[in-house]
Amino acid sequence: KKKVAVFISGSGSNMLSLAKAAAEPEFPAEIVAVISDKAEAGGLARAAAIGIPTFAFVRKDFASKEAHEAAILAELDRLQPDVICLAGYMRLLSAAFIQRHEGRILNIHPSLLPLFPGLHTHQRAIDAGMKIAGCTVHFVTEGMDDGPIIAQAAVPILAGDTPETLASRVLTVEHRIYRLALRLVAEGKVEMKSGCAVSHAVSEATGALI
Ligand code: GAR
Repeated sequence: KKKVAVFISGSGSNMLSLAKAAAEPEFPAEIVAVISDKAEAGGLARAAAIGIPTFAFVRKDFASKEAHEAAILAELDRLQPDVICLAGYMRLLSAAFIQRHEGRILNIHPSLLPLFPGLHTHQRAIDAGMKIAGCTVHFVTEGMDDGPIIAQAAVPILAGDTPETLASRVLTVEHRIYRLALRLVAEGKVEMKSGCAVSHAVSEATGALI
C-alpha cells in the first residue's frame, strides 16, 4: 500500500473520509500520519481516536516559515510518504517544499477551479450568481489552489443558500472525490508529468455531476 500523510488545519472531515476509505482492505493507500499547523485542530483528536499518529507543528513555535517547514520536512523524511494529501491545510507551502515532494502532493479546494481560488470561495460563488458550485482535487504546484486537476464534482447552488449551507453541500461531495482521486494516484492511474495531470485510466470518471 502507498503511504499517505494528511495535512490539516481544522475539523479534518476530509481526512476522516480518506481514513475510512483506507480502512477498506482493497484500498491501495494507508494513512501513516496526520500533520497539523494548529494544535487545536479538531481533526487531530479525531485521527488519534482511530489510531493514526498525529503531529502538530505550530507556526508560532518556529522563528520563520522556513524553520517551520524544515521541521515538517524532517518528519516527512522519517515517514517517507508516497503521497501527501492537503485536506483543509490553510497554509501555503513554499516552492522549496513543493519541489522536494514534486508530483506527490494533492490538495482539495471547495470550488470548481480555476474559478474562485483562495479564501471565501462560497461567498464569491454566490455573489457571482453562479448556479453550480463544486470541488476540485489537484496536484499541488507553486501557485495557490493551482496545478493539474485530478477530479472534480459539481453541486447546485440553491436559492437562499448561504456560504454555510453551500459549504456543507460541497463538503459531502469533497468526501467522495478525495478518496477517488487518492485511489487513482495511489494506483498509478493518474500522475503529474511535466506539470500536467496524465491519466492512464481513460475509463475512470474523474468528473461527476452529483
Ligand atoms: C474543506 O472544505 C476544504 O476543501 C477546504 O477547507 C475545508 C476543510 O474541511 N480547503 C480549502 O479551502 C483550501 N484552499 P475539513 O477540515 O472538514 O476537511
